[in-house]
Amino acid sequence: MGNFLIVYATRSGETKKIGELIAEGIRINGHSAEIKKVNEIKNEKDLDGYDGYVFGSPTYHGEMISSMKQLLFLGERAALKGLPGGAFGAFGWSGEAPERIFGTMKNIYGMKMTGNPLMLKASWMGGGRDMAQDYGKELAKLAD
Ligand SMILES: Cc1cc2nc3c(=O)[nH]c(=O)nc-3n(C[C@H](O)[C@H](O)[C@H](O)COP(=O)(O)O)c2cc1C
Repeated sequence: MGNFLIVYATRSGETKKIGELIAEGIRINGHSAEIKKVNEIKNEKDLDGYDGYVFGSPTYHGEMISSMKQLLFLGERAALKGLPGGAFGAFGWSGEAPERIFGTMKNIYGMKMTGNPLMLKASWMGGGRDMAQDYGKELAKLAD
């Protein structure tokens, strides 16, 4: 059984809810998941010891939240190569943050990524709940 670490940044809570649904999907498919707010990760050692990683940030002014940028620099020094990875975030209209996080995890860390990042307007809108759980299930399959 793999243990995933989900780390989220958020301003108004929506990206946290999406992360919790992703965790549910991972658990439904027989793996475990811990969810942490980005400021709980103080250094690269706090990233050690998991079997997969999922990072999430909403988009504000065309960018991810700055604390998530700092986390991505920490991730560069952690041993993430080849491990399952995914990225997610709530957005309003452009949604750059999940794409940027996904690109870093794929191209800099060399992780085994899901097909795409998960971008949702809200966890409760337009099938968002199922899409977030399905994303968790997709991640779990990468750890099978
Ligand atoms: C001041 C402000 C700027 C925003 N800028 C963007 C943006 O550039 N692109 C986008 O897709 N959404 C943008 N949004 C929408 C947020 O991404 C959206 O409300 C999201 O659900 C917030 O997620 P959170 O609850 O995790 O903070 C903006 C929202 C606010 C209030």
